[in-house]
Amino acid sequence: MMSKAIYPGTFDPITLGHMNILEKACSIFDEVILAVADYTGKDNLFSLQERYQLCKKSTEHIPNVSVSTFQGLFVDYAKSQNCNLMIRGMRAVSDFEYELSLALTNKKLNPEIETLFLVPSLRYMYLSSSIIRQLAALQGPLEDYVPTCVAEAMREKHFS
Ligand code: COA
Repeated sequence: MMSKAIYPGTFDPITLGHMNILEKACSIFDEVILAVADYTGKDNLFSLQERYQLCKKSTEHIPNVSVSTFQGLFVDYAKSQNCNLMIRGMRAVSDFEYELSLALTNKKLNPEIETLFLVPSLRYMYLSSSIIRQLAALQGPLEDYVPTCVAEAMREKHFS
């Protein structure tokens, strides 16, 4: 049987840190769905469609990834994909409380859901989308932090 996992997130925008987690997941599972969430309780820089397109472009070289969007609860989306495994990145202790509460809430909503935490490589440990959004707004260099298509989209968003 093919093994499958879902890596959900806001991906506003997708960063090299997310890519690092995704590549690790792709080496473990036959198929990984990168699922871009519509509702995340945050004000986003990019629309759902823009985030989806940037994720799609950034991952087109990885054969066992598919990109999709979802609305509503993650557990409902996971059920629709016949998949009980959620991947999340764990960068530092500061992620732990939020990630634990997300994992436990999902488990309460559907006891069959499991969350698998992957740790990013050391060089991506400190990356976050909000730091990168700040860097973009202040015309800082982006290429070390995000895929090239994302860097271009961020510059366009702020300065065109
Ligand atoms: N590298 C770089 N940054 C990373 C990272 C990594 N490996 N892992 C996490 N991050 C950062 C992101 O950049 C982002 O930073 P920001 O807060 O500064 O913008 C932050 O950590 C988290 O973003 P992301 O990984 O995109 O996920 P998220 O926490 O926004 O995603 C969902 C949360 C989408 C999984 C969750 O809201 C969800 O499931 N929503 C659907 C509704 C639902 O079912 N809710 C739960 C039950 S009520």
